[in-house]
Amino acid sequence: MPVIAFANSKGGSGKTTSALLLAQALAAHRPTTLIDADPRHPITTWAAKPGKPDALTVVTNASEKTILDEIEEAAARDPFVIIDLEGTASRLMSYAISQSDLVVVPMKEQQQDALAALDVIQEIHRDMKATRRKIPYAVLFTQSRAAVKSRTARHIAAQFRENAHIDCFATEIHERDAFAAMFSMGGTVAGMSPKSVNGLDKALENIEFFRAEVITKLRAIRDGAQADSAGRAA
Ligand SMILES: Nc1ncnc2c1ncn2[C@@H]1O[C@H](COP(=O)(O)OP(=O)(O)OP(=O)(O)O)[C@@H](O)[C@H]1O
Ligand SMILES: [Mg+2]
Repeated sequence: MPVIAFANSKGGSGKTTSALLLAQALAAHRPTTLIDADPRHPITTWAAKPGKPDALTVVTNASEKTILDEIEEAAARDPFVIIDLEGTASRLMSYAISQSDLVVVPMKEQQQDALAALDVIQEIHRDMKATRRKIPYAVLFTQSRAAVKSRTARHIAAQFRENAHIDCFATEIHERDAFAAMFSMGGTVAGMSPKSVNGLDKALENIEFFRAEVITKLRAIRDGAQADSAGRAA
């Protein structure tokens, strides 16, 4: 049921990679649909390679005219729906955000990504006004160094983490061979051989933390929504 969109109009911010990692991790437990709403179709290309889990359905978006129906159908069928959006602001992006239970805003710890993330957050707030409902979102730092961070990276991350109005994932998606290799090799990180990829155990741990944090956020969102409607009913 929950719909999770990955949005940032900055190209290369890590949307497709983190959406696919989450989809793989969720599909290990429950049926999951990943909607490929990037016209270059990176997820569809990945899904054509061997190793896609059976529990993961990839839907190739046709156009902005069909996205709402695609989301509705997937949400009626599967416990989790993930949407990978293209790297430009568009009506399709607004439609997808309007249907989301959680919007993940991936960003590298770089100035241009930070500015684009703030643009997306403003867009999410406009979509909240348009739909008259709360749309939870959280920033996800991606492609970060697992070891020592640069000063700039630390500074940019701190500006977001210390902003009381912006929710950030505690988990970061680190820069890992395995996360880039899955696009060329196909299949999941869990299905890779430790002989062919460096740091596989750390990569798997990273994905599992991300999955667990998404589930925790979705539960908090659901409980918050229930508390809101109980408050209105009282
Ligand atoms: N955590 C990571 N570890 C290693 N490589 C990564 C990671 N995240 C992204 N990359 C690489 O960086 C590039 C851009 O990542 P990705 O395609 O996920 O970004 P995107 O936001 O979806 O870009 P676009 O806006 O073009 O769709 C890709 O080549 C990808 O393999
Ligand atoms: Mg992408």
